[in-house]
Amino acid sequence: MSTFSVAIDGPSGAGKSTIARAVASEFSFLYVDTGAIYRTVGLAVRRAGVGSRDAEAVRALLPELKIDLRYGEDGAQRMFLAGEDVSDEIRTPEISIYASDVSAFAFVREYLMEMQRSLARTYDVIMDGRDIGTVVLPDATLKIFLTASAEARAERRWKELLEKGQTVTFEEVLRDMEYRDRNDSSREAAPLKAAEDAIVVDTTELNFEESCEKVKELIRERMKK
Ligand code: DC
Repeated sequence: MSTFSVAIDGPSGAGKSTIARAVASEFSFLYVDTGAIYRTVGLAVRRAGVGSRDAEAVRALLPELKIDLRYGEDGAQRMFLAGEDVSDEIRTPEISIYASDVSAFAFVREYLMEMQRSLARTYDVIMDGRDIGTVVLPDATLKIFLTASAEARAERRWKELLEKGQTVTFEEVLRDMEYRDRNDSSREAAPLKAAEDAIVVDTTELNFEESCEKVKELIRERMKK
């Protein structure tokens, strides 16, 4: 029996994870946050004291990594590094940059590929990332490219960080966002871009509920086919 898979790609802060999580629970799909996997690699690199752009050092570290993705009783995805739950620690702005840097290495992407594909073979999934529709699941049942202006995305991310008690300015968040946009879109290995058969959803003018509704509509339509 084949599984239903929804690929949601787009730039940082477009709302992919919050929207995908909410929509997944509505349809009882498994939500897979692939950014969290790259973040866990970023954290491992940071902890090893290795430069995130030092290809050889990062490559040498990979065979030692023990990264697991597990789901809690509440259905939330948790990330483990060598058995330690690092789900909160991977969310800092510093680790965002590490994740963006290490994700530019083709060998890191290759290393994480099977973990992502095997989840989609086993479960009905909503998987969000940058290259899900283009590389990881080129045969996804539905592909959505979720985007919004850089300012709108930075503002949402800034508010999220403030709520979590982190002290950052809007300018810092916008600068990090623009750095990551450039990094993620200009890299040679699986750059961020919409798949040819992806449906583009721009959420600049949409609130959370409207964005979810739009995505749900697309899934319902696809289920009828
Ligand atoms: O979605 P996020 O912000 O948590 O992702 C962190 C970084 O990981 C992001 O800068 C780009 C990278 N990433 C990627 O290259 N491919 C993915 N499928 C998911 C994330």
